[in-house]
Amino acid sequence: MSTTGTSSFVVVANRLPVDRVVTPGGETTWRRSPGGLVTALAPVMRAYDGAWVGWTGSPDDAPEPFSTADMDLRAVPLSAEEITLYYEGFSNATLWPLYHDVIVPPEYHREWWDAYRQVNERFAAAAAEVADENAVVFVQDYQLQLVPQILRSMRPDLKIGFFLHIPFPPQELFAQLPWRRQILEGLLGADLIGFQRDGAVGNFESLAELFTGASAVGDTLVTDDGRSVRARAFPISIQVDEVARLAEDPEVQARAATIREEVGSPRHIMLGVDRLDYTKGIGHRLKAFGELLRDREVTPEDAVFLQVATPSRERVEAYQTLRDEVELQVGRINGDYGRIGTPAVHYLYSSYERAELVALLRAADVMVVTPLRDGMNLVAKEYVTARTDLRGALVLSEFAGAADEMGTGAFLVNPHDIDGLRRTMMAAMRVDDAEAEQRMKLLRDHVISHDIDRWAHDFLAALRAV
Ligand code: ADP
Ligand code: G6P
Repeated sequence: MSTTGTSSFVVVANRLPVDRVVTPGGETTWRRSPGGLVTALAPVMRAYDGAWVGWTGSPDDAPEPFSTADMDLRAVPLSAEEITLYYEGFSNATLWPLYHDVIVPPEYHREWWDAYRQVNERFAAAAAEVADENAVVFVQDYQLQLVPQILRSMRPDLKIGFFLHIPFPPQELFAQLPWRRQILEGLLGADLIGFQRDGAVGNFESLAELFTGASAVGDTLVTDDGRSVRARAFPISIQVDEVARLAEDPEVQARAATIREEVGSPRHIMLGVDRLDYTKGIGHRLKAFGELLRDREVTPEDAVFLQVATPSRERVEAYQTLRDEVELQVGRINGDYGRIGTPAVHYLYSSYERAELVALLRAADVMVVTPLRDGMNLVAKEYVTARTDLRGALVLSEFAGAADEMGTGAFLVNPHDIDGLRRTMMAAMRVDDAEAEQRMKLLRDHVISHDIDRWAHDFLAALRAV
């Protein structure tokens, strides 16, 4: 055992919180990485002043340790082949679909698994190198489920926490995985394993008992080598201050007013903001909106749909297919119901600065969040946080983790039920101001009192207590 590092707190995630971007002029800049994990973890990292171990998003990229936005970053390089096998393959074409209800069929390939194991070993070694003696190491998400066990074998002095940002599936699905025992044992290397929902904790505990030698003793799992491991739900959240501050910024509010004019000042703006991912139910909400136009329940003057789709995992086949499908659907709706200068759907395939994103949230009367399965969905929390004016309505899928906490104030919906989705979208558009305000207040009160600082504090306190 060697303890060479100096950081007493280390986050290990597949991605660094920033991606390397090379400008056409050949200059390197760093841009915030996509997705909820970075949204949630970046503020935690700043508060705890630790090191973040992750990949830069580019092949064979191994810059020296560097700092950006007050964070100490350590890059783990991935070769082009590892990106194909470990990241696009095992992480995003095996685990991602398996853990999200097999919305698309997961693929099982032994060479993907081999690469996953090797890359997990590299992340564990990098964490072992930066962590000080008895440090806390906080491992993130489905790409790195073997890291807790490997890291423990290298550095038994460490306190190891793991948090899964996505759902953890039930036995009926998880049992498909040819490497189910290895994944469970990998996770059991942690002292504390956090999930988004109670249901995921139950799934994990029963699977650990079924496929490993672990047994449940009270609320603890005891592994076959006699270690105690806790599994618990810690629903993740956002940095409320950051979003609320932007929402109150006069420039952001002016931009929101301009956005409303730019889309033709309709009575209702409906908004979707998602990574372009098949778990998000983008097609379902567009189908419902198209039918409302078809049946003249709304006209393009009444209501426009603004769909922001963040480019994501563009080399994975299912994502390419999805992009074609969504863009075909948008084209059809606009061809059928749009008029010159008044498209029914405004579709933006791009990522945005935070201020522009918050301006969009402020401009939207109805936020439509309809995932078929989602660990949490931070966009729902960002929307209500941005509505410091207590206006707007949230349509929220029952299948988002956020539904556990936001069920009372939101318009809950089963996105598979297109008629139900149509009715719910109409109800959200028609809600009167008093009811809208009451609902928004409930939603905001919850998110404000359960922000990311509280999540980090709860998780890290529980980890210290194990
Ligand atoms: P996921 O983690 O699956 O991507 P979440 O809703 O939990 O979904 O988190 C998405 C995060 O990415 C949110 O913080 C959201 O604001 C951000 N985001 C989504 N789309 C964009 C975009 N086009 N530009 C910038 N940020 C985006
Ligand atoms: C989700 C996952 C994260 C991931 C993010 C963006 O939030 O839980 O682990 O980083 O999506 O996906 P990407 O593949 O671009 O990292």
